[in-house]
Amino acid sequence: MANSGKSYDIIDHTYDVVVIGAGGAGLRATFGLALKGLKTACITKVFPTRSHTVAAQGGISAALGNMGKDDWRWHFYDTVKGADWLGDQDAIEYMCREAMPSVIELEHYGVPFSRTESGEIYQRPFGGMTTEYGEGPPAHRTCAAADRTGHAILHTLYQQSLRNQAEFFVEYFALDLIHDVDGKIAGVMAWNLDDGTIHRFQSHMVIIATGGYGRCYFSCTGAHTQTGDGSAMVLRAGLPLEDMEFIQFHPTGIYGAGALITEGVRGEGGYLTNSEGERFMERYAPHAKDLASRDVVSRSMTIEMNEGRGVGPEQDHIHLHIEHLEPEVISERLPGISETARIFANVDVTREPIPVLPTVHYNMGGVPTNYLGEAVQPVGDDPDVVIPGLMAVGEAACVSVHGANRLGSNSLLDLVVFGRAAADRCAEIVKPDTPHPALPNDAADKALDWLDSRRYADGPVLTADLRLEMQRTMQAHCAVFRTEEVMAEGVEKMAQVWAQKDDLKVNDRGMIWNSDLVEALEFDNLLQQALVSIHGAINRKESRGGHAREDFPDRDDENWMKHTVAWLNDDGTSRFDYRPVHGETLTDAVDAVPPKARVY
Ligand code: SIN
Repeated sequence: MANSGKSYDIIDHTYDVVVIGAGGAGLRATFGLALKGLKTACITKVFPTRSHTVAAQGGISAALGNMGKDDWRWHFYDTVKGADWLGDQDAIEYMCREAMPSVIELEHYGVPFSRTESGEIYQRPFGGMTTEYGEGPPAHRTCAAADRTGHAILHTLYQQSLRNQAEFFVEYFALDLIHDVDGKIAGVMAWNLDDGTIHRFQSHMVIIATGGYGRCYFSCTGAHTQTGDGSAMVLRAGLPLEDMEFIQFHPTGIYGAGALITEGVRGEGGYLTNSEGERFMERYAPHAKDLASRDVVSRSMTIEMNEGRGVGPEQDHIHLHIEHLEPEVISERLPGISETARIFANVDVTREPIPVLPTVHYNMGGVPTNYLGEAVQPVGDDPDVVIPGLMAVGEAACVSVHGANRLGSNSLLDLVVFGRAAADRCAEIVKPDTPHPALPNDAADKALDWLDSRRYADGPVLTADLRLEMQRTMQAHCAVFRTEEVMAEGVEKMAQVWAQKDDLKVNDRGMIWNSDLVEALEFDNLLQQALVSIHGAINRKESRGGHAREDFPDRDDENWMKHTVAWLNDDGTSRFDYRPVHGETLTDAVDAVPPKARVY
C-alpha cells in the first residue's frame, strides 16, 4: 500500500489492460483479452449480470437468412440509411459483415436463441431492416431469444468470462483516468463500494465500456445505473465526445413508467393506433408503416399527440396492440413484455392495448473511435488522431455505426462485434507483462479531490432535487422535436443547474455502501454529458435522424454531414470541432451508399 499524500491509503494494481464496465461490450472485450493472454481487470459498479444489457429485449441483427432471403450488404444499406448518412461506412461495413460469424459464435458459446421448426436461430423483422436495398419486403434479420435476448447474451458472456479466468472487480465505482509522467492515459482510480477502499489500477490500455447516459432525462428505458461514468471521465480528462446531440427516443416506452416494450412486438405484428383508432403509421411511412425506423415512428407519434389525437384524458399517449396475435405467439415470443405490461401498466396484453410513449432509449454519441475501438480526436489537420492508451466500446463509444439514428437490434450487435474487435486490436498493441512507466506523485489527486469534494459536500441542495431539475430540463428542452427558442431556454436552465453543482449536500460521510455519495458522483457524470448534448443540439442547424429541428426541418448535407466533436469547458460551456463522416467503405465487397432522401 502506498500513501497518496491525501487521507486515503491506496491499493495498487498493475494490469496489461483495464476494462471499465461489464455489459455486453465490456464482457466481450474482457474475455477476448483473457483469451489473448493479456492480464485484464474488468471493473464494474454492478454485478456483471445486472449490467443494462440484461434488459435488451428484441434481439441482435445478422443477415443469417434463416427465415427468408437476406444479405449482409442489405443490412449495410439499411444501417447507412437508418443512420441518416451520419454513420461511418467503413465501420458499418465491418459491423454488418462480422454480424453473422459473431452471432454464430454466440450460439456456440451457449446463447439459448429461440428456434425455427427446423432448428435454426429464430429471426424477426425489426424497424428499418429491409431486403433488396430497401426495395424488398421487411427482412427477418433480428435473432431473438424470445424477448429476453440481452439477458441470454449477457449471462452467456459472463459464463465465458469465468471460463477464461477473467478477473473482475465487482461493485467498484471507477472515479477518474490517471496519466503517466508523459501525460499518457495509464489507468484508472476506483472506489470499492463494499469495503470503502481506494484502488489505483495501472494499465497500458483502458477500455471504456460504461454504456449510455440516458438517465440525464426524466423518462428513460435505461437502468438508473446508466450514468455514462466512463464518458464523463473522458470529458474530465480534457478529451472530446462525439455526436452527443443524437439521442434516440424508443417509440414504445410504457406511459408513465418508461419501461421498454420491445420493437419486436411490432416485428411480430403489433401496431400503433391514435385516439380515433387509426393505424396512423400508414400515413407517415406508407411502405414500412409500424416498422419504420425509430426516429420516424417517435416523431409520428409525437405529431399525433400534438395535433390532439393522442389517447387518454390528456391525449398524451398512444396505443400499442397485440390483442389480435395468437396467444401462443405472445407466450412463446413475447413473454417478457406481457409481464412488464401487467406490472407497469396493469394491462393484459391478450385483451387490451398497451399505453406507450416515445421514451429516451439510446445515445448515438460517445467517445469517438475508429472501427478497431481506438479512441480518436481531431488534432490540427488530422481528424482521426489515435489517443494512446484509450479505447471505447458499446454505447459509450461513437464508432460511428449508428450515426444520427440507430436501428433496433444493431446495438447488441455493436457490443459483440466491437467488443471483440477492441480485444483483438489491443492484443496487437499491448504485449503481455510490458513494464509500466512511472506515475507522477500526484497521479491519484484529481480523482480523490473530486471524491472528497462530494463526500464532504455541505451545501443546501439535495442531489435528488438538482438531478430532477436537470432531468426535467432535458426532457422538455432537448426532446423529440427541437427549436432554437426552446433549447436556448434549456441551455439557460442547465447553466443554473451547473451553477449549483458545488452546493450539494451529501449527508453520509462514510465510504462503505455510501449510495448518497455514489448518486452525487453519478449526477456530476450525467450533468457533464447532458451539457454537451444540449449544446450540441442547439449548435447543429439541421434535422437529421434523431435530431429533429422544427426551425431547420431539412437535412443539410452541404454544411452538416460531419460529426460534432465536443469538449466541456471548465465553466460548463462547450467547445466544438468536427470530423468528416467516412463516406467510403472498408473494402470493395460493398458499394458506399451515396446520400439521398430518407423515406420508409
Ligand atoms: C428493443 O427490443 O426494442 C430494444 C432493442 C434495441 O434497442 O436494439
